Amino acid sequence: MRRSVPLEIAYRLIGSGPVVLVSSISGGKSGLTPIAWHMPVSDDPPIVALEIWEKHFIYKAILETGDFVINIPSSAMVDTIRGLGSISGAKADKFAEFGLVKEKARKVKSPRLGSAIGVLECKLRKEKALLKKYNIVLGDVVYAEADGSLFSDRWLPEKKGPRVLHHLGGRIFYAPEKKVI
Ligand SMILES: Cc1cc2nc3c(=O)[nH]c(=O)nc-3n(C[C@H](O)[C@H](O)[C@H](O)COP(=O)(O)O)c2cc1C
Repeated sequence: MRRSVPLEIAYRLIGSGPVVLVSSISGGKSGLTPIAWHMPVSDDPPIVALEIWEKHFIYKAILETGDFVINIPSSAMVDTIRGLGSISGAKADKFAEFGLVKEKARKVKSPRLGSAIGVLECKLRKEKALLKKYNIVLGDVVYAEADGSLFSDRWLPEKKGPRVLHHLGGRIFYAPEKKVI
């Protein structure tokens, strides 16, 4: 079960660079797009950045809606993630196509992915210089949640169960299973 995560540590949900699924809405349709190029920018105030090709449906949706959700999928979703990355939200409702549950967000209009192990609800920042030059979407994190059995004040790779997923390139991913001190 997901619990709210204090905003000052919300960056830890994506700090290690897991693949995320970004959701937003355009013309009444919800998009859900795998993104590997993202990062925290600031913890106070909490700001995140996503690098998104401007032809993607989700790029248009974020600019239209003015907000988005970063959903963190578990390693069990690897086939779905590859599927979501092979079609455009302009052609299909990806939630319906892949049998995924849509959830109402707490603080933004964009929907959340019901099965996500973590979510960051974000409002698009008004400054557009990086967006215009590099397609870098900046967002203020306004609310965050994570599965309490997998994240306390950090991800818990030492616990059995689903994990975050990292993309190494092409068809290859890995899921961390060991804590190193
Ligand atoms: C693992 C993975 C990571 C990806 N990372 C990015 C990324 O960081 N930025 C990007 O623009 N596209 C990325 N893509 C490609 C988009 O997810 C893909 O083209 C998708 O179909 C676009 O969907 P949309 O048009 O509905 O937004 C990635 C795809 C996969 C499978």
